[in-house]
Amino acid sequence: MSFATVATLDEIPDGGVKQVSVHGDVVGLYRVGRDVYAINDYCSHEETFLSEGEFEVEEMEVECPLHGSRFNVIDGSVRILPATKPVASYPVKVEGDMVLVGPRAEK
Ligand code: FES
Repeated sequence: MSFATVATLDEIPDGGVKQVSVHGDVVGLYRVGRDVYAINDYCSHEETFLSEGEFEVEEMEVECPLHGSRFNVIDGSVRILPATKPVASYPVKVEGDMVLVGPRAEK
């Protein structure tokens, strides 16, 4: 599976998130300047979208809107319970204005 163009940079607010669908997965794209990070958008605790939670840019964490678990947006690791399992992360390339996402990184 190769990289797929999923968004333009200006579709993602700086310090914000955009939900996209790629390779059959629902993925949240988190932007900081010209850097973009991609993690699976389903919380690993129960099914809710992490992209509807708060993105804490300084911590590079997103807080689940349902029970408050926090996930690192760079590698999908859990920072705060009740979730115990990481979410998948995906490699991202920014080429000019285009944001491309590759296949999920295996844990
Ligand atoms: S659904 Fe995300 S912490 Fe419970």
